Amino acid sequence: MHPMLTIAVKAARRAGHIISRASLDISQLTVSAKQQSDYVTEVDRAAEAAIIEMLRETYPTHAILAEESGSSGPESEYQWIIDPLDGTTNFIHGFPQYAISIAVAHKGVASHAVVYDTNRNELFTASKGAGAFVNEKRIRVSKRAKLADSLIGTGFPYRSFTHIDAYLAIFKELTQKTAGLRRPGAAALDLAYVAAGRLDGFWEFGLSPWDMAAGALLISEAGGLVGDLAGESDYLATGNVIAGNPKVFSQLLQLISPHLTAGLQA
Ligand code: IPD
Ligand code: CA
Ligand code: CA
Repeated sequence: MHPMLTIAVKAARRAGHIISRASLDISQLTVSAKQQSDYVTEVDRAAEAAIIEMLRETYPTHAILAEESGSSGPESEYQWIIDPLDGTTNFIHGFPQYAISIAVAHKGVASHAVVYDTNRNELFTASKGAGAFVNEKRIRVSKRAKLADSLIGTGFPYRSFTHIDAYLAIFKELTQKTAGLRRPGAAALDLAYVAAGRLDGFWEFGLSPWDMAAGALLISEAGGLVGDLAGESDYLATGNVIAGNPKVFSQLLQLISPHLTAGLQA
């Protein structure tokens, strides 16, 4: 395992420990709303601090982008992109679907990724050019070729409703043209599930880089495709993402395109 991935795994496990311990008594959580329907707990912050502390010990010259503390560290060719707790709403409710997501990019290209599901003890890892794994077992995207047979993940709009009509039109069509849609509630884990072939595809609007950076590398290393709404590589910047095995990815792209309104094309 590459030393950077080893550190990322250690940091994810340390955060996992904090999150798992807190999950034993969620009645004790202090929850605050960053904005409407966007919650944060002291557990998100403690997990993030633990991850950053560990990364800084080993890589003091690297830059960091983390959900709760934003950008920190010196200018660097290396940037760590961290979501200490993806799926906070689930976590607050004791709904066991959340994960820690850590990626490191070199000159803007993701090179190592970890998504850690503490509830199932599943550790998803990938390094560029070296494949994707769950608990050290190789994973690949599904081979399902027809959208009609596919299970597709998504995230419902919940903070901004600017594009809700376009979203619902896509939702309506996909509900009728797939084997099923799922909204598990932790985007990083949804992307890991595409990498593992448990979902055949995924789409969501309005995500942040820390939701996607690790999951996207898992998918490309598992033989899948990830893109923005034009099928290009700008998803971290636009926040809008389509992912899947190569066949499902192109069918999703084709189905979603006609529904795009002005703001969504950007
Ligand atoms: C959220 C989850 C959710 C997605 C949201 C994200 P958070 O992350 O990934 O599935 O629909 O857009 O913001 O806030 O729980 O880290
Ligand atoms: Ca997140
Ligand atoms: Ca989060």
